[in-house]
Amino acid sequence: MPASYSCQVISNQTAPYEKLTEVVQRHQQTVFQKPIASFNQQAFEQAQQRLAEHGGPLILDSCCGVGQSTRLLAAQFPKHFVLGIDRSVDRLERKLGKLPSNACLIRADLVDFWRLAAAANWRPDYHFLLYPNPSPKKKDFKLRWHGHPVFKYLVALGGRLECRTNWPLYVIEMQQALKLMGVAANLQRLVVLDEPLTPFERKYAKSGHDLWQLTAQLNAALDD
Ligand SMILES: C[S@@+](CC[C@H](N)C(=O)[O-])C[C@H]1O[C@@H](n2cnc3c(N)ncnc32)[C@H](O)[C@@H]1O
Repeated sequence: MPASYSCQVISNQTAPYEKLTEVVQRHQQTVFQKPIASFNQQAFEQAQQRLAEHGGPLILDSCCGVGQSTRLLAAQFPKHFVLGIDRSVDRLERKLGKLPSNACLIRADLVDFWRLAAAANWRPDYHFLLYPNPSPKKKDFKLRWHGHPVFKYLVALGGRLECRTNWPLYVIEMQQALKLMGVAANLQRLVVLDEPLTPFERKYAKSGHDLWQLTAQLNAALDD
């Protein structure tokens, strides 16, 4: 099997996680108290400084991996500051060439970074979450972003959320979680016509997977 080939997601779930409502509502009603790690605080301060220096509107590229999408989005949105965030040093350090001046890659854990950004009232225009780890085993529901207590902070940031995946249940569940939080989200099949936005998108498209896209305007939740 070639290295660029990817198998379909295998899961012991055939429907959305049965305790989704219970888990999402519990997270909404409780304060997430995990202390912020100092490396994430430092990364956030660095990002905050870069954003202030640029001065433009913000695009977040969360789970950016090697940062290919960060580069492509920076070219597509030249007036925006595009911030790619990933916790993997190994991925971030792969050399893909010079970053455009309106892009920046930061190593941080989003479990802390999103909380810091929400506390600082960041308001990205767009928030991309491209091919997050699906964690398809039922017992790992809490590892999916919408099953994690930090999800409400992502929603609090606002902006237009776009999540892409090759596992439709991931975005079906995310749509249900968002609905519980007062946000309507659209789901559609994604057809990759031009340059894939990320290496995972390229690999999945080449392997013949169906790709899915969730989009939602998160500001509706902020207006409540
Ligand atoms: C499947 S890869 C997708 C990478 C890229 N978006 C792409 O499509 O090529 C998922 C990425 O999420 C990152 N990630 C997972 N959990 C994270 C967390 N808590 N904080 C920051 N990054 C995280 C991983 O390091 C990995 O690079």
